[in-house]
Amino acid sequence: LSKVCRGSFNPSVQSVFREKIVLQNLISIQSNRQFSDGYSQPKESTQKAVTSFYNQSAIDASASKASVRLTPTSILYSGKSADGSHILRSAQYLHKELPVRIAHRIAGFRNLPFIVGCNPTILSVHEMYIRAFHLISEFPMITDFESEEPFSRMLKNLLDEHKDVVTLLAEGFKESRKHIRDEQMVKNFLDRTLTSRLGIRMLAEHHLALHDERPNFVGIICVNFSPKKLIERKVDFATKICELKFGRAPNVRINGHLNTMFPYIAQPLDYILQEILKNAMRATVENHLDNVNMPDVTVTIANNDIDFVIRISDRGNGIPHNIVRKVWDYHFTTAGQSDNHQVDGGLFGNIMENRAAGAMHGFGFGLPASKAYAEYLGGTLTIESMQGIGTDVYLRLRHIDGKKESFRI
Ligand code: COI
Repeated sequence: LSKVCRGSFNPSVQSVFREKIVLQNLISIQSNRQFSDGYSQPKESTQKAVTSFYNQSAIDASASKASVRLTPTSILYSGKSADGSHILRSAQYLHKELPVRIAHRIAGFRNLPFIVGCNPTILSVHEMYIRAFHLISEFPMITDFESEEPFSRMLKNLLDEHKDVVTLLAEGFKESRKHIRDEQMVKNFLDRTLTSRLGIRMLAEHHLALHDERPNFVGIICVNFSPKKLIERKVDFATKICELKFGRAPNVRINGHLNTMFPYIAQPLDYILQEILKNAMRATVENHLDNVNMPDVTVTIANNDIDFVIRISDRGNGIPHNIVRKVWDYHFTTAGQSDNHQVDGGLFGNIMENRAAGAMHGFGFGLPASKAYAEYLGGTLTIESMQGIGTDVYLRLRHIDGKKESFRI
């Protein structure tokens, strides 16, 4: 392999060898891993299972199709039928749509620089997508609830098996960072992969949630979503993490349009707010050593008929000029390596919430991912730093039923 790597600059030869590695990895994964659907095969039949599992032409065919992105309102108002036919229609749409989206993700992995794409952790995520493609695209036609039920079960398992994808990608890029020449290419890959994954997960979760009777919800869309309530929940969570890490946390005040309510999808907002609140609290605590004079973090909600804005203001001394632009980069440094801990993600602390170390560290993966999510949702995430005083973060998001067109999932 090393000979081939050194000797060949022909991308098609490289991709053939990469496919070989994928295949070899699949063989070992298939023989070692027992997936929840029992898909893995006995050892003696592994080679055959892998060959059928790795269906290159089917993936290529799907990758050449365009995805069909829906507005949340078309999902919201698509009609809830008493006979549950809306659930069947949703399953049929996903059955057709998810392989196309997943094939696009696989194409993204194939286009990574050869040596980066060969990193075992990145390769393992690539393989998870190949497997998901295979499972969904080979699922029989969904014609009734008897076939819809196992389809939904499979989706639920896939969501669970893919839950650590962001952490794995962060680890993979950290491991292969010495081979990364073109940071912009990696940023484009991560922006595309993370936002497309957000869309895929929202669609799958929406479909599963359609089965539940939850007051004020249609699938994952909350018809009377209250930004204030979500912010309060996120403040409680971030306060707990901050206290765990530093033994204290600033007070958070919420003001502005406190009573506003509208239809919205909370999940992505949940993630973004958590990241921003953690950063604001951490900056405040680290820059005020006595509890008595620790300034509040202030969250302001502003709503109008096109979009809504959430501003998070802290008095944590601001972000120095020389790094303010870098907060939007995905950082692949090892904890403690960077001179400035605001740039060093601390072992990707932003996304590794379940790992105690670095749970409050900022500027690793969380902020660039949050910006990509906000833009995917038709909005923006911007920062104004008042060096020596504090930071204002503005999250602006389009309404899903506002005066202007909303985003598409
Ligand atoms: C992901 O979470 O990475 C997905 O793409 C989920 C999908 C396989 C259902």
